[in-house]
Amino acid sequence: MTDTFNTDLFATRLSNVETSAIRELFKVLGKPGIISFGGGFPDPKSFDVEGIAQAAQQALQDHPVAALQYGATEGFEPLRAEIAALMGAKGASIDASDLIVTTGSQQALDLLGKTLISPGDKVIVEGPTFLATIQCFRLYGAELITAPVDANGVDVDALEALVAQHKPKFVYLIPTYGNPSGATLSLERRKRLLNMAVQTKTLLVEDDPYGDLYFDAPPPPSLLALSQDVPGSRSHLVHSGSLSKILSPGLRVGWMVAPQALLAKAAMCKQFSDANTSTFAQATAACYLASGRLDEALTKVRAIYAQRAQCMCDALERELGDAISFTRPLGGLFVWAKLTGANGAPTDSAALAKRAIEQGVAFVPGAPFFANNPDHSSLRLSFATMSEDLIEAGVLKLKQALLG
Ligand SMILES: Cc1ncc(COP(=O)(O)O)c(C=O)c1O
Repeated sequence: MTDTFNTDLFATRLSNVETSAIRELFKVLGKPGIISFGGGFPDPKSFDVEGIAQAAQQALQDHPVAALQYGATEGFEPLRAEIAALMGAKGASIDASDLIVTTGSQQALDLLGKTLISPGDKVIVEGPTFLATIQCFRLYGAELITAPVDANGVDVDALEALVAQHKPKFVYLIPTYGNPSGATLSLERRKRLLNMAVQTKTLLVEDDPYGDLYFDAPPPPSLLALSQDVPGSRSHLVHSGSLSKILSPGLRVGWMVAPQALLAKAAMCKQFSDANTSTFAQATAACYLASGRLDEALTKVRAIYAQRAQCMCDALERELGDAISFTRPLGGLFVWAKLTGANGAPTDSAALAKRAIEQGVAFVPGAPFFANNPDHSSLRLSFATMSEDLIEAGVLKLKQALLG
């Protein structure tokens, strides 16, 4: 069909945002024969289909009206209580009323944009950070400032200096198994951050969809859990979580823990946006969490991801040697790597991505994950959905594309 839409009608705020370079890549990811290290999806084979089917049945039996009717914008009460218990088991003591359920944690980010960002406001993000966050905050007119990240997460010295200089509306961080950095913020840095938040009255946003996906040992406690030990810090902290990476992204169940005044405004904005997160999905999620099956499902999936991560890191070291550098992730779904240029090998990951697709392997070039000063030598490789055989075959194809 010929498209004759008058594009002058688009709101000016859309000019702050470009279509993601990664969306273009997604078009090739599903093509037969492509080994994909590109997506950020969990492994579909990890879905506890039987457990979710039982939970859905249970939801209709136990809550036939609540699961099919409109619901409270703040969320289905039994689910809010289950999520509070889930967070409590990880050391963050919160009440159900301290959180609202969101349609994926993506909606929590959108609600933060709606409630907090006026055009021109400064927001500090990590470099690199989650691409959808960059786009969402820019849509609301934020001026994004980038704080550097190393293997131990955000560089707190640099962040403190940026906070002092820019006095941002808030600081957005993915402290645990970051997407795409794979990095984990050390315990010492977490404590420093919370103290900085209190001293400088700076709002911190902790986005934590991956914290449960650890390999050998659990990560340091979340900022939310640690905030109990830092008087006053809870007033400067927002935490978002999600069932997407630990149960199913299709349920679209996430949540946001925040000070009451912010939760109330976020709930008001959610009212105008989707009124409530699917009550059927919420009731199903509540029944699933109450069934106690999550622990077993997580134990299985952690072991699978740990093996795949190790397989990918071993293969990258073996095949690409010093042409690539990376830190082995301790959890999550991603290896974040840099092309070093050793022995004259190319360093532009976008050019490499094109050659890699010709060889039959896809990954995501790193530059779009930077709000400023993109690092064109960086790339994100996901090990989550490929078997170990395919990971090894994919790394060989990558070697072919990089070293010929
Ligand atoms: C860091 C981060 N935050 C938020 C999300 C959004 O997840 P969801 O809306 O499925 O909960 C993702 C998804 O990939 C992510 O990587």
